[in-house]
Amino acid sequence: MVLPSADRLAELRAKYDEADQGHVFTYYDSLSDDEKASLVEQLEKFDPKYINEITNRALNPPAADESKTGTQLEPLPKSATASILDSEQDDIDAWYNQGLDLIAQNKVAVVLMAGGQGTRLGSSAPKGCYDIGLPSKKSLFQIQAERIRKVEQLAAKKSGGPAPVVPWYVMTSGPTRGPTEAFFKEHNYFGLDAANVFVFEQGVLPCISNDKKILLESKSKVAVAPDGNGGIYEALVVQGVLADMRKRGIEHIHAYCVDNCLGKVADPVFIGFSASKNVDIATKVVRKRSANESVGLILLKNGRPDVVEYSEIDEATASAEDPAQPGVLKFRAANIVNHYYSFRFLESIPAWSKDLPHHVARKKIPTVDLATGESIKPAKPNGIKLELFVFDVFPLLELEKFAMLEVKREDEFSPLKNARGTGEDDPDTSKRDIMAQGRRWLEAAGAIVEYESPDQGVEVSPLFSYVSHYPFSSFVGPAVARAWRS
Ligand code: UD1
Repeated sequence: MVLPSADRLAELRAKYDEADQGHVFTYYDSLSDDEKASLVEQLEKFDPKYINEITNRALNPPAADESKTGTQLEPLPKSATASILDSEQDDIDAWYNQGLDLIAQNKVAVVLMAGGQGTRLGSSAPKGCYDIGLPSKKSLFQIQAERIRKVEQLAAKKSGGPAPVVPWYVMTSGPTRGPTEAFFKEHNYFGLDAANVFVFEQGVLPCISNDKKILLESKSKVAVAPDGNGGIYEALVVQGVLADMRKRGIEHIHAYCVDNCLGKVADPVFIGFSASKNVDIATKVVRKRSANESVGLILLKNGRPDVVEYSEIDEATASAEDPAQPGVLKFRAANIVNHYYSFRFLESIPAWSKDLPHHVARKKIPTVDLATGESIKPAKPNGIKLELFVFDVFPLLELEKFAMLEVKREDEFSPLKNARGTGEDDPDTSKRDIMAQGRRWLEAAGAIVEYESPDQGVEVSPLFSYVSHYPFSSFVGPAVARAWRS
């Protein structure tokens, strides 16, 4: 590494001093040449004045208290919503067919958000590599890749033309990029063409101490963290994803989270629904399980579509009942982070991405004591990470450019959040929900299945079936199918 020139160093120091963040150079003079060069390189990536600004904005957001601010929270009106639970089968079929046609025309892409560090799961590998214990031992990444392969085949079959391509853009972060790329290579891109799998990286932001100072992880390194899943917007631009989509003629984008083993990747129904409504963003929701479930809520805030995150909602709002349906939650549209975007909307990112608000996550951040130079592993939160949330773009839209589709939880949402043994949103519940779905599919197709215990299921490979109304040809699992009717 090349040592920075005296001028370059002086300019950088002045910038940090001016922002009252000059302490990041505390140990500079005692560092080796390589360490000096890498610290300077890291510091040059940030604008300390901007970091101060977003920290102040995040720590002093407009008050969320409805009674004081006059903020109006209401469920989304019926005009902006539809539900798979009570839609006509003809409508669902029409959306499905339209979605498959768009896929066949190579107009659909998927973006995966896989930059999170999975701290609650307690695994240091990227979540997508996780084996949830299926008989096939498939990882979450493999399940998702196979759904893409299947949907491409279904679209080709419907159109009678050549197999289309649904490019897969995989957002990673500093900690997850290397292991994700290695895992994809090791598994030969799960049968996809590597040319259509685009791994990219979201940005990072410095971690900030409780007294608003940039934290050092070591004498020669700033403590940084991924900038939240809302970092996707800037990353789509700066990492060349939008340019690639433009080149390919993509018009409709499905974005989803890595941790949902039931996620219908490139779901034709959702694509068709959103495209037919000509909206810029659509989102899938499921019904919230209970007032205290850790999910965000999709709602109308001051007349605009919005999400109130579970960490930011007050108890009275979370547990309010629907006046029309006593016993039912008023705000029950649980956010499963499954979005549709029109390409024309994504093209507008540069106009607003710098205005998205940052949220505060209080964390225990390993750091270095500036007085003694010793490493500190804090026992309680000593600072904050600044995070952008992917849904903070919703309020940019007029209601008529936004739609919400309610889907069945048992068919579309089973997130992997917690370590095994937690009993909720953990690897065992992920496995259980996939196997239960396979069993439902088989039974709906007319199979009579014998089980050793009532909670057993069947794993149906995504390569055999994407949704339940398609014929199966194979399955694996502890159960034995005795007879087939269809
Ligand atoms: C998220 C939603 C919440 C929703 C819940 C459903 C946000 C801010 N909150 O909460 O409203 O009800 O999922 O499961 O979206 N990720 C990145 N980069 C990051 C951070 C996260 O790509 O810097 C990705 C993760 O890899 C994951 C997804 O975003 O795929 C969700 O992240 P996670 O931290 O698990 O969100 P939750 O707090 O569970």
